[in-house]
Amino acid sequence: MKSLKYYLQKAYKEKWAIGQFNFSDFSQVKGIVQAARNLKAPIILGTSEGESKFIGLEEAVAIRNVLRKKTGLPIFLNLDHGKSFEYLKEAILAGYDMVHFDGSKLLLDENIKISKKVVKLAHGHNIVVEGEVGRFGTDASKLYTEKFEIKEEDLTKPKEALEYLYQTDADILAVSIGTFHGIDAEVNSPKLRLDRLKEIENNITASKFGIKIPLVLHGGSGTLKEDTQEAIKLGICKININTDIRIAFAKSLKIELEKNEITPYKYFTEPIEAVQKVVEEKIRLFGSDRKA
Ligand code: 13P
Repeated sequence: MKSLKYYLQKAYKEKWAIGQFNFSDFSQVKGIVQAARNLKAPIILGTSEGESKFIGLEEAVAIRNVLRKKTGLPIFLNLDHGKSFEYLKEAILAGYDMVHFDGSKLLLDENIKISKKVVKLAHGHNIVVEGEVGRFGTDASKLYTEKFEIKEEDLTKPKEALEYLYQTDADILAVSIGTFHGIDAEVNSPKLRLDRLKEIENNITASKFGIKIPLVLHGGSGTLKEDTQEAIKLGICKININTDIRIAFAKSLKIELEKNEITPYKYFTEPIEAVQKVVEEKIRLFGSDRKA
């Protein structure tokens, strides 16, 4: 099987994006992987710190291993939004394919300092590192515990993105260009700041360091389709989806449980299909179908 780096670089060159789909339960994974299988797409399974603590780091790795073997698909696993070096170290040693260090609340210098440590350890194990510069919002619909509306100063600054990449040697970079985690209660999709994305990408590629780095879009749920496609053309090669999966799963599960069904393999059937449908839509939108 080709490496995650190979697929990220391929996506970057051919202008499509690999989807990261978050889960905290095996039923969701079933829906995600069934979608990837139907569309022959490479995928990244994502677990946040909270999700990975629920399912277990080793358990998540074991699930990836089994499904990779069974499907023959390039299925990768990312520790999403790791806040400390110590936790990322645990994920690296457990066998994750990539780790995302979220130092977005730190000053740039501190973010760079910890990222360097993470990169050193991860690269020693051949693991991809995603860095982050700028801050994402969190939604207004209480799906996330804290509401945070981004302002102009929270968007990724092109100069800081370049400085971060030059100093840390991270493999890919999450940039803040107007998306937020979750979706808005009034279903107001955020308009992406494609102008800012263009500036970031230009500043990185035109630099004397000759860096060609895939960029990552967080908060992919509820983002306008045309914006998503435009962002991919401008250098976004990985898009994270969580809330759309959670909503589809929970909505369907509620309906099933109201039927008074008590057999898990019966009441989980529809929610798994609901997840599969969402993920298939995203894979098609990202252009990652038939890329495995
Ligand atoms: P959404 O919940 O908005 O899809 O964002 C997911 C994400 O970015 C995970 O890192």
